[in-house]
Amino acid sequence: MKPINVGLLGYGAIARQHLYAYRTIPLYFPELKTDIKVVAVYGRTEERVRNFSKEYGIDRYYTDYTKLIKDKDVQVIDISLPNRLHYETALIAAEEGKDIICEKPLSIDHKTAFEMYRVAEKAGVKHAIVYNYRWLPAILLAKKLIEEGFIGKIYHFRGMYLEDFAIDPSQPLAWRYIKSEAGSGSLGDDATHVIDLARFLVGEMKKVCGKGKIHIKYRPLLTDRTKQGEVETDDEFMALIEFENGAIGSIEASRICAGRKNFLYIEVNGSEGSIIWNLERLNELKLYTIKDSPEVQAFKTIYVTNEKHPYFKRFWPPNGPIGMVDGFAIGFG
Ligand SMILES: NC(=O)c1ccc[n+]([C@@H]2O[C@H](COP(=O)([O-])OP(=O)(O)OC[C@H]3O[C@@H](n4cnc5c(N)ncnc54)[C@H](O)[C@@H]3O)[C@@H](O)[C@H]2O)c1
Repeated sequence: MKPINVGLLGYGAIARQHLYAYRTIPLYFPELKTDIKVVAVYGRTEERVRNFSKEYGIDRYYTDYTKLIKDKDVQVIDISLPNRLHYETALIAAEEGKDIICEKPLSIDHKTAFEMYRVAEKAGVKHAIVYNYRWLPAILLAKKLIEEGFIGKIYHFRGMYLEDFAIDPSQPLAWRYIKSEAGSGSLGDDATHVIDLARFLVGEMKKVCGKGKIHIKYRPLLTDRTKQGEVETDDEFMALIEFENGAIGSIEASRICAGRKNFLYIEVNGSEGSIIWNLERLNELKLYTIKDSPEVQAFKTIYVTNEKHPYFKRFWPPNGPIGMVDGFAIGFG
């Protein structure tokens, strides 16, 4: 077994999902013969990061990310920190010859993002950004169907990521609401996933016209909730796009869309059909094709869980959906 040791920077909402993913990899990909382990975690507050490392069985913890990155037992640096910190930690990691997995958005602006890319390439380290949705079997099937011509020439992409996690104005002014920490709001948090899916399924874009808007202008300060601070990142974002292949499209994102919890929805319309997918029903892909005889032409729902579908010969029992395993974990727990 080849050991791969990962150091986790951050232990927030998404870092915990990364931890789950690393622990599951050997079950999904036994042929890799890797013994992948999260061996260290970084956080600012000693007591909290120590508790986290104990609770989740991680050997070491650091309150200085440079020390974690320099730890000779760590080969892969997983950056799950607020966006501003992606740049400085990635640069140190590349300098130390460590491979890098970085959360989206890559950085707070395009200049630092390009610099991260250049430095990692120059250092010859492996580097990747986390666009997790493109690896879901239903999305991989959508890509295959598009490439095989099931929906013909693509005319239109329509995508949105709508949430309401920020709708309560009494929620404090966390890093997500501050431009120097986050870069952007719903654009970098949500639209970024839609942009990735658009590029994955349709291709590169050549023209974009976008608009962001802040609706909730002030929020209580984290340090003193009786005082208000200014929100600097967009609550909503919209864009019109034109792809290099001539298709056009629209992208929407919101963190204040009442009632929407994790509504990542995409629709691709072509000369011979359409494809629809929605994260809230992640095992299903809807397909309409004019190749069906006219009497039965309609959207059909493909339940993307059989062994012909991408990755389904692996860990899941045939026709067992993604998510089924969580019932075992919760039940056994
Ligand atoms: N791929 C996805 O689906 C997805 C989903 C959510 C978030 N993300 C990305 O993951 C990253 C983290 O987001 P999150 O939702 O886990 O955030 P979070 O606020 O839940 O956690 C952030 C972590 O960084 C630490 N932290 C905060 N400020 C810090 C500072 N100034 N210095 C050092 N550490 C600090 C926090 O203690 C925590 O451990 C972001 O880049 C976000 O865009 C990705």
